[in-house]
Order: sequence, then structure tokens, then C-alpha cells
Amino acid sequence: MRMQDKEEIVVNNEKEMAALAARFGETLKTGDIVALNGDLGAGKTSFARALIRNQLGQETEVPSPTFTLVQTYDFPLCPLYHYDLYRLDDPEEIWALGFEEACMSGICLIEWPEKAGENLPENHIDITIHKMDKETQRRIVITRPKKDD
Ligand SMILES: Nc1ncnc2c1ncn2[C@@H]1O[C@H](COP(=O)(O)OP(=O)(O)OP(=O)(O)O)[C@@H](O)[C@H]1O
Ligand SMILES: [Mg+2]
Repeated sequence: MRMQDKEEIVVNNEKEMAALAARFGETLKTGDIVALNGDLGAGKTSFARALIRNQLGQETEVPSPTFTLVQTYDFPLCPLYHYDLYRLDDPEEIWALGFEEACMSGICLIEWPEKAGENLPENHIDITIHKMDKETQRRIVITRPKKDD
């Protein structure tokens, strides 16, 4: 059985979410793949935006990749690829979006990762954002694969 590191955090508002995303982003290394799960409006893009702005400055434009499917940013360490696969019709289409190169030499943040099907590498960091009763409250579950192979 594969052992996993699991962490759960509750944030009360968008500001706390942004702080969490910033802190999380600082732990990422080249080759890391982050699956961002959660319902419509859960806060996946907000999380990605805060992570990116923490690295590149608060003025940085971070549009949702809903239509372009991927947006690329020059992080200090390597390129960061922000995907939104909601509109992907076939999991194979991900290869036309530079996914091979992104996995090898970049950091990937992927909204709607289930759309990639089997093409999503197993060894990814999983983040799920759950809405809660209070409008601005979210429960975030971060699962990291243990790398002892
Ligand atoms: N604690 C919070 N963290 C993140 N977003 C919050 C929070 N509280 C309220 N919000 C609001 O929830 C919305 C989240 O929208 P966002 O576009 O980030 O969701 P999404 O998960 O990317 O949706 P989609 O599936 O459509 O891409 C925003 O309007 C944001 O202001
Ligand atoms: Mg989004």
C-alpha cells in the first residue's frame, strides 16, 4: 500500500485562502503536478491566482484558463503551467497543450484534473477545496504522495 501525507485546513475567508496558497506555492519544485479539485466556484482559480501573485507580484494578471485551457507564467525556478481542463473533450487533447514538457520541466496547477483521465500522472499532489455552510469558509485537503520509491 502506498503511504500518503494528508493535511486538512479550514480557512474562513478569501484572504486566509490566499495566504495558504502562497505558503503552499513556496514548497513547489520543478516537476511538481498539482491537481486542484472542487465544485464550480469552490475557489480553484482563486487559489492558483494567489499562488502565482505571491511569486510574481500582486499586480500580475491571472485570468482563468477556461477558454485558453492553459496559461503559462515565468516563475523564478521554472515555468508554471495553469491548466483548466473543464472544456477538454478527450483526455488525449492534453498532449496538444504542452503537457509533456510541462510535467518534465515545469510546475503544473490543474483545475478539473479528472478530465485528463489516465493521462494525469499518479504521482501528483492532490488538493480538494470543499465549500462549507458559511459562504466564505472552505475546507482544503492536501494529499501528497510519499516519495520513497
Ligand atoms: N475562502 C474563499 N476562498 C476562495 N474563494 C472564495 C472564498 N470565499 C469566497 N470565495 C469566492 O468564491 C469564488 C471562487 O471562484 P473561483 O473562480 O476561484 O472558483 P473555481 O473553483 O475556479 O470555479 P470553476 O470551476 O468555475 O473554475 C470567487 O467568487 C471568490 O470570491
Ligand atoms: Mg476556475
